[in-house]
Order: sequence, then C-alpha cells, then structure tokens
Amino acid sequence: MASSTINRDRLLKRHALMATFGDTGRGGVIRPALSAEETQARRAILDIARERGFACSVDPIGNLFIRRSGIKNHSAPLRIGSHLDSQIPGGNYDGVYGVLAAFEVLETLADQSVSSIRPVEVVIWNNEEGARFAPTTMGSAVHAGALSLADALNSRDGEDLRLEDELARRLNDLGSLTQIPLGTESFGYIEAHIEQGPLLESADTPIGVVTGIQGIIQFNVTVIGEEAHAGTTPRSRRKDALAAALALIDEIRTLTNDTEDEIRFTIGRLTVAPGAPNTVPSKVVFTIDLRHPDEERLGSLHVRISESCKNFVSPCEITAVTTLNSPPVKFDCNVMAAIEKHADQSGIKHMKIASGATHDAKFMAGLCPTGMIFIPCRDGISHNEREWAEFEHMACGADLLMRVVKQLCMSD
Ligand code: GLV
Ligand code: MN
Ligand code: MN
Repeated sequence: MASSTINRDRLLKRHALMATFGDTGRGGVIRPALSAEETQARRAILDIARERGFACSVDPIGNLFIRRSGIKNHSAPLRIGSHLDSQIPGGNYDGVYGVLAAFEVLETLADQSVSSIRPVEVVIWNNEEGARFAPTTMGSAVHAGALSLADALNSRDGEDLRLEDELARRLNDLGSLTQIPLGTESFGYIEAHIEQGPLLESADTPIGVVTGIQGIIQFNVTVIGEEAHAGTTPRSRRKDALAAALALIDEIRTLTNDTEDEIRFTIGRLTVAPGAPNTVPSKVVFTIDLRHPDEERLGSLHVRISESCKNFVSPCEITAVTTLNSPPVKFDCNVMAAIEKHADQSGIKHMKIASGATHDAKFMAGLCPTGMIFIPCRDGISHNEREWAEFEHMACGADLLMRVVKQLCMSD
C-alpha cells in the first residue's frame, strides 16, 4: 500500500544530487542563474520529470513549469516551487530546498495515484538571487508583470553578457520544452524555504507559517569620473570616481541609520574601473539593497536616497537607477490557515513568522492566494556556504506541503 507520507529517502537522494552541481568542496555551491552548473541542476530535475511523465514547459523569461495533470486539466494549476540558482557562493538549501520539496510533492501525488481536480505544477523560477543579473526575483517579477520582459532580457552580468543571449544558450541544453506565455493563471502558490534567520531555531519550532515579506528596493549607482595618473595629478584636479562614491555612500548610510535597527541597508557589490593601482578610478558601480516592512517608510527612504544621488556635489557624474521596487506583502489568510490546520493535524509545532528575505512568492501574492512554509536553518545563517538545515526539518516541511497541496488541489 502506498505510504501516506512523502518519500524521505528520495528527498535525501535528490538533495545530495543537487549539491553536486556547482559544488565548491566547502559545503556550498556556486550556481548563479543561467550558469552551466545551474543548467545541469535544472536539466537533472527535468530528466526525472520526463521519466515520470510530467509535462515540462518554459515561459519567455526562462521560468520552468513541471505539471502533473488534474481531472480538470484546463483549470488554473496550483503552483509550488522555488529556485535553483545560488549566491556566489551560496549554500545547499536556499531555493533548492523549495524546488525539491515541491518536486517530492508531485512525485508523491503520482505514487499515491491521487486524482487531483486541478493540475499541480512545480515552478523553478529563473534568477531569484539576482547575484549575476539584476534584479533579484527577476523570473517571478516578469511573470507577474512587475518588470518588463525587455528590461529583464537586457540585463547584463559583470562580464557584460546579456541575459537574453545566455538564456537562449542555456535553453538549448534543457531538452524539449513547450513554450507558454508569461503570467498564465495560477489557482494558488505555495513555496517552502529555509527561514534564513534565527527565529525558528531559537524558538525550537520546526515550522514557520509565513505571514508576509518586507518590502525591497534595489538600485544600481554609477559614478563616472576620469582616469588620471596617480603620481602626477593633484587632488584638486582629479575626478576620482571612488572618492566620490565613498563620500556618497557615507551620506546615504547616515540617512539609513535608525535607532530601532529595522532598516536593512546593504551595499553588496562595488566595482572600480579601470582597477589599476596607479590610475585614478574613472568608474565605480555599486548596488544598494534597501528593505523595510513598512511601505511608507520604505517609499520615503527610496525618495531620499534617489535625491541624495541626484544632488550630490562632486566633480563626477552620478546616476542611480532603481532596478527593483517591490512593496511589502501579506500572504493569504486561507493559505496560512490550511498550513496551520495540517501542521496541527500532524502534531507539528509551528509559529507565525514574517520573512526578512525576499522570495518569488512575493510577486505571486499579487496574482493568486499565496503562502510560504519555513523550516529552521542552523544559526540563522544563509547566503553562506555554511548554510545548513536538519534533514528531519526538510522532510517535515515537504510532508506538510504535500498535505496542504492535497487539500487545495481538490478545490473546484
Ligand atoms: C533573496 O535571496 C533575498 O535577497 O532576500
Ligand atoms: Mn531563496
Ligand atoms: Mn537567496
């Protein structure tokens, strides 16, 4: 008789397989969006999906959809998933856990010959991390119409490679996929993910029922100066792009200091050109990642930072471009209630929790009833090769997802 739970051994095996793609040998992976390694990981999942008879499709921004049919196959699918790209380097849980949990649900439904009313689809979003191509959560933003396809395809990585070209190149390695349009209707969306913070672990609680996600704004700031000889050019005659960038960063950091320590302000990348020890820098490009749970507060910080960049007095030219503007969202009460109900029925301790990290679920929340299930990660560490989650928690989250999906996919 088919077991009523997920197949834990299979989940463990798939997790070990995924860890081989981009393995750094130090416990993490380097698997940025549209890299050869991420493509291998995507291909491995697609190969298993095809063997199991699931239909595989792709949309114009490279999001992958793996479908198990329902009785009413033309009804909007219930979607579950996450992403396979990583930070550079990243851990073995962020994103990949949610994809594997979702895929395990699909396989369990098939093993148990569940006749769902609606199709159930695993989504593997393209470029959630934004580590290689800006912005973060690109695939879901384009799917939801919050970012134009043309802007996303035009995004360039640090080596000036265009996303559109890289996407075309990698799609060739994924085998045959049905093309579907952007923004196809979803009945609901649920994403499992590690918490990426310390709250569940501190509360000794294996499941977080996520209430929503704080707002995020990302900028690319470019400072253009002029190359000059480091030995001969007096300071008064320089257009030093790095000196200007540092002064500007200092000003912006000061305006984002808050006593409550709620504003999350990060400059995660800064590049200096031409990058020679004896040449005054002519160009600096840096990113800003700004987050806050309150929409108004985030909006006013957005304006103040933009004005700071625009009005900053310096011999250099400064341009700030907003690459992502995503307000805070609250998840659907019925999805949260379904997660809580099934956790209670399985005797699993759970708590409500807000997400500090952003996720593709954020854009899905604007399209359909959406929710997330968090599991703890050790010391709350993420975006780090030391990221680690207990297998017991991974299995518990996947099993809970399966129970919630089994309920929701029966809705007419
Ligand atoms: C997701 O990776 C985020 O930046 O929160
Ligand atoms: Mn993630
Ligand atoms: Mn991440």
